[in-house]
Amino acid sequence: MHDITLSRFLIEAQREQQSLSADLRQLLEVVARACTAIAVAVNKGDLAGVLGSAGSGNVQGEVQKKLDVISNDILLAANEWGGHLAAMASEEMEHPHPIPHRYPKGEYLLLFDPLDGSSNIDVNVSIGTIFSVLRCPAGSAADEQAFLQNGRQQVCAGYALYGPTTLLVLTLGQGVHVFTLDRETCTFHLTQKNLRIPEDTQEYAINASNARHWEAPVQRYIAELQAGKDGVRGKDFNMRWVGSMVADVHRILSRGGIFLYPKDTKDAGKAGKLRLMYEANPMAFLVEQAGGAASDGRRDILDIAPETLHQRVAVVLGARHEVERVAAYHLS
Ligand code: AHG
Ligand code: MN
Ligand code: MN
Repeated sequence: MHDITLSRFLIEAQREQQSLSADLRQLLEVVARACTAIAVAVNKGDLAGVLGSAGSGNVQGEVQKKLDVISNDILLAANEWGGHLAAMASEEMEHPHPIPHRYPKGEYLLLFDPLDGSSNIDVNVSIGTIFSVLRCPAGSAADEQAFLQNGRQQVCAGYALYGPTTLLVLTLGQGVHVFTLDRETCTFHLTQKNLRIPEDTQEYAINASNARHWEAPVQRYIAELQAGKDGVRGKDFNMRWVGSMVADVHRILSRGGIFLYPKDTKDAGKAGKLRLMYEANPMAFLVEQAGGAASDGRRDILDIAPETLHQRVAVVLGARHEVERVAAYHLS
């Protein structure tokens, strides 16, 4: 299997799978190259002067790290000229980025969280890039409205994880596959096919410091997990929280578990912390493709009709039976 490079995988998928067009294949190759460039910058760290704050803020009102800005710039520059995109949207930019007039335009829309896990950059903990691909509606101006499609419309989603090894995890709507970066040849190789998330688990991930702000169904669910063998669940649960969604989701795709970033009352104006278009939708697509489930507590993430590009959402994803239990608690 290791002799199958990302390029070969995509060419073979294009042959076998009508849904993978030559343009989409080219788009994914370019995204993978951009992620390789980000991986190089991440890996050099202080030697390349990429750590620390950029001294600016983004549209989310968050302080930007240098790597947030560098990663955004790398993805924009790599994807502008290929002719496969109609526009791009990023967590770090208020408005969609149109393709400059000097370049041809294509039929796809690319959305990304250029650097996920910003708070982990300066402490050398795993971070990543999350992306999602939509079709640009025919005749559309490729403006913000064009991006407001529900997650089931995604033609592709994935992430790069800059950890001890750099991985690219991808779905084209037919399973979830993992590619490992060979740093010497700068090539991604297929290393795992068709990841599956077990329906049950004994491991959960949540930022417990927000506990007092959670809604009642989440309070109840987590209290039951923490009661372990002595409580209604009758078994002990372990907890892991990296603080980079990309790394927490990767653990769940690798060995199972449930991840929650619920709505909380800390900031009543926000429906959650994570962003629907750049984080929740691509991860929900991957998790469903691996047999798991993804919900905001009340409906499947992928069924949410987006109202704005940067909207936030509660996220509960991973082991199907656990996600269903959390959803049931929200209904009762
Ligand atoms: P980003 O770095 O793109 O802003 O996203 C960070 C997200 C996500 O990766 C993670 O699950 C969550 O923020 C952690 O936030 P807290 O540390 O506030 O819980
Ligand atoms: Mn993020
Ligand atoms: Mn980010």
